[in-house]
This record gives sequence, C-alpha cells and structure tokens, in this order.
Amino acid sequence: TPLTRLGGLALVSLLVGGTGEELLSWSLAPFLGGGGGFLHADPPLPGPDSFLLPNVDGCRPRAPFLLVLVASAPGHTAQRQAVRASWGGARRAGGYPVRTLFALGAPGSGKEQARLEEESQRHGDLVQGRFADTYANLTLKTMMLLGWAAAHCPGAAFVVKVDDDVFLNLPALARHLGALPSPRQLYLGRVHWRVQPNRDPGNRHHVPASAYPAGAFPPYCSGTAYVLSGDAALGVLGAAPHVPPVPLEDVYVGLCARWAGLAPTHTARMAGSTHYPMDPCCYGEVLYSVHQVGPQAMGAAWAMVGGEGGACTPLHRGLGVLRCKVLALLEGL
Ligand SMILES: *[C@@H]1O[C@H](CO)[C@@H](O)[C@H](O)[C@H]1NC(C)=O
Repeated sequence: TPLTRLGGLALVSLLVGGTGEELLSWSLAPFLGGGGGFLHADPPLPGPDSFLLPNVDGCRPRAPFLLVLVASAPGHTAQRQAVRASWGGARRAGGYPVRTLFALGAPGSGKEQARLEEESQRHGDLVQGRFADTYANLTLKTMMLLGWAAAHCPGAAFVVKVDDDVFLNLPALARHLGALPSPRQLYLGRVHWRVQPNRDPGNRHHVPASAYPAGAFPPYCSGTAYVLSGDAALGVLGAAPHVPPVPLEDVYVGLCARWAGLAPTHTARMAGSTHYPMDPCCYGEVLYSVHQVGPQAMGAAWAMVGGEGGACTPLHRGLGVLRCKVLALLEGL
C-alpha cells in the first residue's frame, strides 16, 4: 500500500539520510588524525604572473566573513549572471559580510578573452588564472582560487568553493559558520567515504595507479560545495607540493587536507547528487547547498530564502533534511 511504501521510504531515508551520516562523521573524525597534527603552513602564494585577471581589489574595501569562490567556465555567462542576480549578489547574509567571485581559466580564443575582460570591467567579480580552462585542469582552478584567497583576501574567516550550477543558501550557511565554537580548522561539506580510484583509462575520472596506488581515497568533501576556514585553506595550499597530482579537484583537496592533518566534517545539509524538488522549507531553511540548479531555477530558489516568519512549519523544521530526502525520493518514483 502507499502507506507502507511511505513508511519504508522514511525508514530507508532515516538510515541513509542525515542522521546516520552525521553520526558516522562524528564517530570517524577521531580516527583521521585531524586537529592534533594540524600543519601551520606558510605556503608560497601565487604572484601576479599566475593570473590573467588578478582582481587584486576583489576583496576590498573590507574582507568578508565568508568569501565564496564559484568555479565557472569562460562560456558559462548565463550561469554567472543567474548567480549574481540571486544569492551571489548579496553583500550581507545572515548578518555577516559576504562576497562572491568567479574563478576561471583561459578560454580558447582571443575573442572570448575580450568578452571576459568586458564582463570583468562591468562586474568586477572575475578572477582568472593563467591556465587552459579544461576539465582536466579543474585541480589547477581550485588551487588557483585558494591561492587567490590567501594572497588577496587573507582576512576572510571562511572560503567556500562552489560550482556555478549550485544554489547556495548563503544566509543559512553564514549563520551556521558564525555559530561554530572553534572554527579554526574547518573543512566542511558532504563527505564521500572510501571512494575507490577509477582505473579505467577511458573514464574521465581515471586515476592511474602510478599517481595514487592505494585502494581508496581518504574521506573528502564533494566538490560541488565545501567550506574551508582561512587556516584550513592555508594548510591545503601548504600540503599541495607533497600530494600526488590526482586530476579530481575534490579528491585532491581531500588528500591535501589529510596531509595537513585536517579531518573533513560532514553535513547532510549540503546536497550531493540528490535532486531536491523546489520546496520552500528545504530551499529556504534546511539545505545549505543544492547542485544542478540551472540558471532559470536559481532566482526561484533564492526567492524561497528569508520568507516572513520562516519557510518551515515547526513540524517540517523538526524533520529537517529527512523530510527533504523523502520528498526527493517520492519525486523519483
Ligand atoms: C592545463 O593548463 C596548462 C597551462 O595552460 C596547459 O598547458 C595544459 O595543456 C592544460 N592541461 C589540460 C589537461 O588541459
């Protein structure tokens, strides 16, 4: 019957959903060696030659509490515009100063580069590295944006890396980070456990045994959205020269974090591959990030944030991520 099916779904989602995941994360952290062995790195910072558009004023006049760097591609003009017109346009969120910038590599043509320079003039929110913008260079893009943050925005308490198809509930995330008791060594996101390297040379996630021989990666935060405290970002940058060049940016950051003695913290409020239906409570309050939100949907998602008196009823708020997961499961039936 529909009712038993619903009950079954609720049970499954309780087991695989938020609660179980967070318990697992809490119980795992002590075994990862994070915290105690934390490296206070003093990494070399990127110089002016590393950038095509260095945007040295991108963080002025005053460093934000939360610096969001959106990994984008030269051709993704519509995605950037949708982010600017929604959550990325905010200068304050949850009572904290925030700033959103876009990180890019070099396009294939001078014409495209001219268009980007024009966009940069108009909006002042592009940071462009001196490397070809290709899928295989995503790791370079991430290290570039972390390097830019360390060099040109050292006052930011937290750096968030997101993709340009991610809806970010910036007020909810900022409030959460602002309330943390000791956030100095934070690496927060949706944690992937025991992912095995893909050994198929034809796969775009291929990692040769010569680069990474072990059978599984250490836990790492999904690349769609993750948070590093300023100190943690320095630790990751400092570890990079010691870490094998795995071409998957999120795995690579996880390896650097592991080298720096930084354990990832899991939050079920950052979405992995789950597609959440547009629900005002889920988008407006419960979830910090949802990925695969196209440019057309970004404004509608943002409109759900900050509704009068909250977007959730007390019951819905109590059920939290669990209810959102059940909605996602029901939509998939
Ligand atoms: C990464 O960028 C560098 C510098 O532009 C370029 O030489 C290289 O071909 C790129 N790598 C890939 C795999 O695209």
